[in-house]
Amino acid sequence: MSQTPHAVEARHLVKGYGVVRAVQDVSFQVPRGEIFGFLGANGAGKTTTLRMLCGLIRPTAGTALIDGFDVFAQPMEAKARLGYLDEEPFIHPHLTGREFLDYIADLYRMPRGPERHRRMERLLGLFELADRDGELVGAYSHGMKQKIGLASLLIREPSVLLLDEPTNGLDPRSARLVKDLLEELATRGTTVLLSTHILEVAQALCRRIAIMDRGHLVATGTMEELRTQAGSAQATLEDLFLRLTAGPESSELIERLLAPQP
Ligand SMILES: Nc1ncnc2c1ncn2[C@@H]1O[C@H](COP(=O)(O)OP(=O)(O)OP(=O)(O)O)[C@@H](O)[C@H]1O
Ligand SMILES: [Mg+2]
Repeated sequence: MSQTPHAVEARHLVKGYGVVRAVQDVSFQVPRGEIFGFLGANGAGKTTTLRMLCGLIRPTAGTALIDGFDVFAQPMEAKARLGYLDEEPFIHPHLTGREFLDYIADLYRMPRGPERHRRMERLLGLFELADRDGELVGAYSHGMKQKIGLASLLIREPSVLLLDEPTNGLDPRSARLVKDLLEELATRGTTVLLSTHILEVAQALCRRIAIMDRGHLVATGTMEELRTQAGSAQATLEDLFLRLTAGPESSELIERLLAPQP
């Protein structure tokens, strides 16, 4: 009997940029309906991993699978199931919010008509962009661009969402809205893989968390599993993060910075 494939699977992903080894042998699996969090210091390799999983950059080695479809060998099947939000989302600056959503819906061959229109209006309303009629996306604020980027994924209702810092730049109410929305989507079977620097978001939202450090996955599991791995039942996610990702203590760095010059 064949097993149901995982919604997302990274198999020994490697990416090198010249001498920089951005991602080194990263493997993990995310079952359907799970919210999986990706943490790591700046430059740890989170964006590179997400870009390989969505087919935006070709791995030096390894395989990225969405619902069992190889993102590079079977791109149509994989990408039809996938919604990807880049850390710098491309949003056509010369379209209004409505036009942009319409354009994305056309690209993905969503049937035109009242259902598509309803979905579009609902998303614009949800993200409080409905009354910005006639304004070009290029003139949107940073947070508004992030929201229209998210809306452009959600309009297609993909079964797998890969989100690179989805709450980056959002005000507290919008960030809460996105968290609640992702939770609700997951209960309905959508799989979410998100990277974040906001540990509170990871802890509140994610069933399992992966921590990356300099291209490697150094830990993967539930909070309980991460605590067991670190041998500390009381550890907060911040404690675990700091312990698992290398680097001098901040007090040491501050001392060095403020030390009198010889
Ligand atoms: N196009 C590129 N060319 C060369 N090096 C790159 C390129 N993209 C990423 N890198 C390098 O790969 C490493 C991983 O970068 P990546 O953007 O994946 O990190 P990240 O974990 O997403 O960091 P951040 O938290 O700052 O977003 C870094 O050393 C970075 O400089
Ligand atoms: Mg990044």
